[in-house]
Amino acid sequence: GPLHDLLVDLPKVEHHMHLEGSLEPNLLLELAKRNNIELPKDDDAFSSVESLLARYSRFTSLDDFLHYYFIGMTTLITESDFESLAYAYFQKAHSQRVVHAEVFFDPQAHTNRNVPYDTVLSGFKKAQARAKTDFGMTSELIVCLLRHIPPKDCHQAYLQALPDLQSGKISGLGLSSTEKGNHPSLFKESYDDAKKHGIKLTAHAGEEADVSYMASAVDDLGCTRIDHGIKLPQDPELLARFARDKILVTMCPLSNVELRCVKSISELPIRQYIDARVPFSINSDDPAYFGGYIQENYCAVQKAFNLTVEEWANIVTNSITLSWCNEERKDEML
Ligand code: HPA
Ligand code: ZN
Repeated sequence: GPLHDLLVDLPKVEHHMHLEGSLEPNLLLELAKRNNIELPKDDDAFSSVESLLARYSRFTSLDDFLHYYFIGMTTLITESDFESLAYAYFQKAHSQRVVHAEVFFDPQAHTNRNVPYDTVLSGFKKAQARAKTDFGMTSELIVCLLRHIPPKDCHQAYLQALPDLQSGKISGLGLSSTEKGNHPSLFKESYDDAKKHGIKLTAHAGEEADVSYMASAVDDLGCTRIDHGIKLPQDPELLARFARDKILVTMCPLSNVELRCVKSISELPIRQYIDARVPFSINSDDPAYFGGYIQENYCAVQKAFNLTVEEWANIVTNSITLSWCNEERKDEML
């Protein structure tokens, strides 16, 4: 379309991507070999890059994806594996004009298989420093609690990350994994403590589950940002509140289609959010699994909604203003 070049040139900010979700099939299989990790023998998907990609194109739900996501990341063992993973993402994001990225990671998925927390964090910190030096790209880490794991265990994982949340090595707290049945309110102990420490809070909500999960993330957990958040039109009062309080919704269009949350991108409430002034950003979620990085998500939205230059400018301005970087960095980006 006519805006394609503009969408390519636009400086972008990404708020919703999981570093472990940027593990491309070729790196996954290479790391499995190098680290002697046995992948499931009874699943032909792991036999080649092509068969993995073919399986990734047929996800039926969030849990169907998470099964592959958690197996894939078992190939990450050393600090340099985590550094390579994150640096490859920053490099790709830079090639798509991402100037600032706020990225999730899942320490529990590594500590649970005896990869030390410090190995994961130091690998990611090294990649962030290189991305700053090599590309001028700034980034922030957001630690996710895995909600399929009992809240008491998640709280221990939170406490392990707390010193780094307080020092600023990690910028915020998030909540991910299987949504339905794992209500936000179950994680109130961790979020209350984080709020007390002034830590920035977000949670995945309203991806597969209904809008009551979004209300709980805001009311029970104190989140100022919601990840996915596609169910907001189910509750017009809550929608008005997101607009009034400038609660950012970090949308992931290709992810929502790939995980069958919607049949097509045109079903997403993007027009409603623009009309009601609900701030949102457009993001890649797990780019190695969903067939595209941020640029492909921007283009898919444009194809479905044919937004104006002014509407895109507004999306990007909101993305900068509602980032979790410092004000000086925002001014540079604006
Ligand atoms: N939803 C929940 N958990 C996740 C996702 C997601 O889209 N991606 C990685 N972990
Ligand atoms: Zn996500």
